[in-house]
Amino acid sequence: MPTTAEIHPLVDPWEDPLAVMDEIDRLKREHDAVILAHFYVDGEIQDIADYTGDSLKLARDAVSAKQSTIVFAGVHFMAESAKILSPQKRVLLPDLLAGCSLADSCPADSLAAYQADLRSKGHDFQTVAYINTTAAVKSLCDWIVTSGNAREIIDRVPQDKEILFVPDQHLGRYLMEVTGRKMILWPGACQVHEIFSIQDLLRAKRNNPNSIVMAHPECPRTVLEHSDFIGGTEKMRQFVVSLAEPRVLLVATEANMIHPLQKLAPQHTYIPVPGITASDGKTCACNKCPHMARNTLEKVRDCLKYGRPEMVWQPYFEKAKGVLERSLLK
Ligand code: 13P
Repeated sequence: MPTTAEIHPLVDPWEDPLAVMDEIDRLKREHDAVILAHFYVDGEIQDIADYTGDSLKLARDAVSAKQSTIVFAGVHFMAESAKILSPQKRVLLPDLLAGCSLADSCPADSLAAYQADLRSKGHDFQTVAYINTTAAVKSLCDWIVTSGNAREIIDRVPQDKEILFVPDQHLGRYLMEVTGRKMILWPGACQVHEIFSIQDLLRAKRNNPNSIVMAHPECPRTVLEHSDFIGGTEKMRQFVVSLAEPRVLLVATEANMIHPLQKLAPQHTYIPVPGITASDGKTCACNKCPHMARNTLEKVRDCLKYGRPEMVWQPYFEKAKGVLERSLLK
């Protein structure tokens, strides 16, 4: 795998961000490109993107985009899914090392061995994978879900089948509760959502009486139990718009999510969880995804300029394509 220095040969810490943005606009036109940005990347990148969204919307945007090149400011599995769903397009990821702790927690060979073991013990199941997985894992699964469509997809699994849910144990447990379906859970977790401590959350609630706690279903059960609203990133946006009065919201997800919430519904006050750690009331906002943070304006510009890193089609994408299409597009 090439090193970051090889991929980004011209990183200059003194570059003017406005000049970089102008260059991105020019390169986008020259290369017939569109920029997709997940709600967890830096706000500045979300602001220059053509489309922002959650995992589900961005996967669909990648398919419907008319441009021949997609720059995916997100993480590896997102760009990989975009390539699988649109093989004819050139898909660029600003930093090839932008991975995902959930995807890392479920290697394809371990999953295949576990599935074989379950079958040998007489389990008759379908495998449902969170989109935060590699294509090799997706190719071993029956369904792919995102936080935005998980409930409807679970409803499509025949009632007489057991469900093996991978890799996020917290999302899986939450889905068991809301769908009433029993699931065998893979023991994976997202490093960002696992970082919230219940003490931090309770302290924030105490310091902000009448606040509303919003949590992503990737959070552990202890956090969800103290939350007023549970939903993925797009559902959080819909929720804040639905509130009639200005409120204080404690946000238990990746801290960059506050950027689109603030833009959409600036009448509310958003506080990241954990927060309120300093005596001056400032929040630490230490809940940033290190993989999403690999996306920078300069890397967006450079991948457009040099046409790399590019997601390259792999033979095993073919099987993952069928699963992704029937789960996300139908
Ligand atoms: P959503 O964007 O679907 O809410 O999921 C967040 C996430 O896990 C991104 O990696």
